Amino acid sequence: MNDPLADLLKQAWQHLGRGVADRRHPARHPTLATMGPEGVEMRTVVLRAARPGAAQLEFHTDALSPKCAHITADPRVAIHAWLPGPRLQLRIRAVARLAPGDPAVFASLPPQAAVNYGGPVPGSPLQDDGPDAGEGQGEAARFTCILCDLEEIDILHLGDPQRRARFQSADGWRGGWIAP
Ligand SMILES: Cc1cc2nc3c(=O)[nH]c(=O)nc-3n(C[C@H](O)[C@H](O)[C@H](O)COP(=O)(O)O)c2cc1C
Repeated sequence: MNDPLADLLKQAWQHLGRGVADRRHPARHPTLATMGPEGVEMRTVVLRAARPGAAQLEFHTDALSPKCAHITADPRVAIHAWLPGPRLQLRIRAVARLAPGDPAVFASLPPQAAVNYGGPVPGSPLQDDGPDAGEGQGEAARFTCILCDLEEIDILHLGDPQRRARFQSADGWRGGWIAP
């Protein structure tokens, strides 16, 4: 049966899934916002898993990065992506938790990726000799998953006419149209 609301939600999840699988898909690099001590903080992250059945998104990060402290203090996060091809804006609210990364995944990382999970604390001042100093090494213990349990997905389709819908876990993701 034709259900435009359900189709829109399905489309959003399909794009998120493609972002995980395809390095060039724009859903690959959403913006993740956390609540920091000085206000909202945003950064680009790589989408590592999209699980529509569990309504969950996964990112990987360094346990020492400030975003982990933010999530520990306040697990509410927001995720944003703009997908220019289908002209979809995704605005997601979620509750995040941290989990140790899979050691097998860490072991499979190329050295240039593993190094992101080692060295100085992200955002901390470097010595005078700058960013090229030293050859950092990754530490498996710092390889961390951010698991985001979705509470709300707001989808804006910049078509003609524009359509916008809000879906919430609280009502079983039934969703409803809202003013664009
Ligand atoms: C294209 C791109 C992809 C990135 N992917 C990640 C990622 O998957 N995980 C991550 O922790 N940081 C990633 N970063 C770096 C973050 O944007 C950020 O600079 C870093 O994680 C420190 O963030 P924080 O200080 O808010 O914790 C990426 C940056 C860019 C530009």
